[in-house]
Amino acid sequence: MASQPTLTTSMQPPPGPNTPLALPTSTTNQNPQTFNAAMKVRMRVFVDEQNCSATAEIDSDDSRSWHWVISDNTRTSSDSDQPIAVIQWDWHHEPCIKLTRVAVVPEYRGLGLGRRLVDTALEWASAHAGEINAAMRDVAGREGIQLKEGLGSWKGLVLVHAQVDVERMYQGQGFQTDESLGRWDEEGIEHVGMFKRITLA
Ligand SMILES: CC(C)(COP(=O)(O)OP(=O)(O)OC[C@H]1O[C@@H](n2cnc3c(N)ncnc32)[C@H](O)[C@@H]1OP(=O)(O)O)[C@@H](O)C(=O)NCCC(=O)NCCS
Repeated sequence: MASQPTLTTSMQPPPGPNTPLALPTSTTNQNPQTFNAAMKVRMRVFVDEQNCSATAEIDSDDSRSWHWVISDNTRTSSDSDQPIAVIQWDWHHEPCIKLTRVAVVPEYRGLGLGRRLVDTALEWASAHAGEINAAMRDVAGREGIQLKEGLGSWKGLVLVHAQVDVERMYQGQGFQTDESLGRWDEEGIEHVGMFKRITLA
């Protein structure tokens, strides 16, 4: 890895239900470019490294999520924008946003990129509550989800389903484990629910 990588961050707003998302290997893949970049990291980390199932790697959360990708632009080969780290979030049925699929490729770990992803995504969320609420109402209407009276807008609550191995990382970023959510297995990996409230700009 280069000692001083030139990093850029891209954001993909929710692709929406009209853009069927496919695995990058699919011949019918019409995914947005940034989503495909995110999938490169996810396939490498979650499928190849953590043995999660490839077919379960894209789910209904993806089309309504905002996706961030950090790329290394240092390389001059044709694959010059090498995606190396990802994060995404959507919202829960309660008005909180849920961070998912935080991943940094192995050779770039320990450089602060995990923290940078969480900070970047949450800074954007803090400044765009109106946009988040509009998208939340749109999806709730389409999926027939009843938003509770008085709770129908997002007020800065953030949820993460954390693998227990990285619980400490999120604690360091101000998340607290909610033991009432219990512990559960996703793809053979134990998870806990953690919350943090951010201030809206
Ligand atoms: C978890 C992951 C995203 C962390 O990325 P990273 O870029 O190495 O993390 P950072 O360098 O930004 O570290 C941020 C903080 O978390 C801590 N941390 C990072 N990984 C940790 C781990 N596995 N366990 C405990 N603490 C960890 C760091 O020490 C650092 O703490 P500090 O700010 O107090 O110094 C990365 O290891 C990864 O992709 N793992 C595989 C996928 C995964 O498990 N994703 C989590 C899904 S819930």
